[in-house]
Amino acid sequence: MFKDIIKNNVYPNFIDGKWVTTEQTIDVISPIDGKLVGKTSAMSQDDVDRATASNLEAYKTWRNTDLMERGEIIIKAADILEENAEMISDIMVTEIAKGKKDALKEIVRTAFIMRQTVEYGKQLYNKILRGDETTPGAKNTICVTRRDPLGIVLSIAPFNYPVNLSGSKLAPALMTGNVVLFKPPSQGAISALHLVRAFELAGVPKGVINTAMGRGSVIGDYLGSHKDVRMINLTASSDVGHTVAKASGMVSMIMELGGKDPAIVLEDADMDLTVSQIVGGAFSYSGQRCTAVKRVFVLDHMADDLAKRLKAKVETLTVGSPWDNCTVTHVINEKSADFIMSLVEDAKAKGATILTGDKREGNLIQPTLIDHVTTDMKIAWEEPFGPVLPIIRVKSIEEAIELSNQSEFGLQASVFTRDINKAMTIADRLEAGSVQINNAPSRGPDHFPFSGVKNSGIGVQGIQYSLEAMTQVKATILNIKSSDL
Ligand code: G3H
Repeated sequence: MFKDIIKNNVYPNFIDGKWVTTEQTIDVISPIDGKLVGKTSAMSQDDVDRATASNLEAYKTWRNTDLMERGEIIIKAADILEENAEMISDIMVTEIAKGKKDALKEIVRTAFIMRQTVEYGKQLYNKILRGDETTPGAKNTICVTRRDPLGIVLSIAPFNYPVNLSGSKLAPALMTGNVVLFKPPSQGAISALHLVRAFELAGVPKGVINTAMGRGSVIGDYLGSHKDVRMINLTASSDVGHTVAKASGMVSMIMELGGKDPAIVLEDADMDLTVSQIVGGAFSYSGQRCTAVKRVFVLDHMADDLAKRLKAKVETLTVGSPWDNCTVTHVINEKSADFIMSLVEDAKAKGATILTGDKREGNLIQPTLIDHVTTDMKIAWEEPFGPVLPIIRVKSIEEAIELSNQSEFGLQASVFTRDINKAMTIADRLEAGSVQINNAPSRGPDHFPFSGVKNSGIGVQGIQYSLEAMTQVKATILNIKSSDL
């Protein structure tokens, strides 16, 4: 897809319908072997201004383009993306060490989300309200609503889903008539640029999507506080979310940030299901998912049994190359591996028991299960974003709920039980955007609402929720005066 565009292995920015290379570049290094995958062009603040100027020019026309026309471009881009899934997933494997099958699934899921976004986007119905629905004597006041686009949507995607969490931002923004300033993840940028190329090949008009790759230290704050940006849609760590929120001022936001999703296991749970959901939920893509299970709460008297079962399951996980579809592969970079291991060291020093794992070779960390984790340990509260799962033994379900809610995060939570009444009661009390009953935390199905509370985010994603969030309801009010005919 990039054959005639790439020179010297440098992937340019896409600005005003052209691929533009800058002097400064950023190396994209494979987590697997430390080799260079490619380079990306790094923008200056002036380059960002050129991109936003182009966005604003394109917005004048794009916002008035027929819905069907916008939808056709998105569907065509989804088709192109899917036709190239094999090739793009190969890049994703090299770039972020995601298992080949999962990388392929990510691309297929993205194409699906894009098509569904068009379907839902056609149904963003407008309303007509009569004044006397609430106000006596206001019969002749009629309100006609319309969903208007917002303008430039700054879309910032993370490394762990470089295509999917880009497509799920770009498609609703474009469908609702917005234009996009797209900041791909530094690691994962090459995969993400293929999505932009798919939109280009599908015929998206110039300036409707511009990219903004560059060093966070040079353009990060500048992008977040840019005067022309009207909405920020971001998936990142909570720290990045806070920094962007501080810089941004009064703009609309959807932010999906960190999580410390608890799994609470009750006595009557189906243990086989519970164990497989917890282990899958904690360790898939090496735990580098915001929705990974990041702590297990279990009652004292059943903890030995659950710990034994979890250990047995964790020890069946495949570890190694993403090309072999291993569940646990190299984490994204050395800094991340250092941080993950520092949490394990802290827990060990404070008396936790390692049931399995605790071995590292470069960026490859063996899946690590830690028992007897207590609240003085960092791993009880911090998000490792790696293949490490702490077990916290509690005296009561009440204590599990309290400790769950003491977290700074509140993305998702899981409750494992056969008792629907208990499940619903616990779910009601958990401070989280979503609670899964008898399942690992998960963002999909993609038309479900997905949100976080506290440091886990702002706003609600999900196909129709993202579409709605990217529009402003405009009201035109007819005041009809009776006249003699
Ligand atoms: O990492 C954040 C993603 O939104 C999680 O998505 O639950 O589909 O893995 P997922």
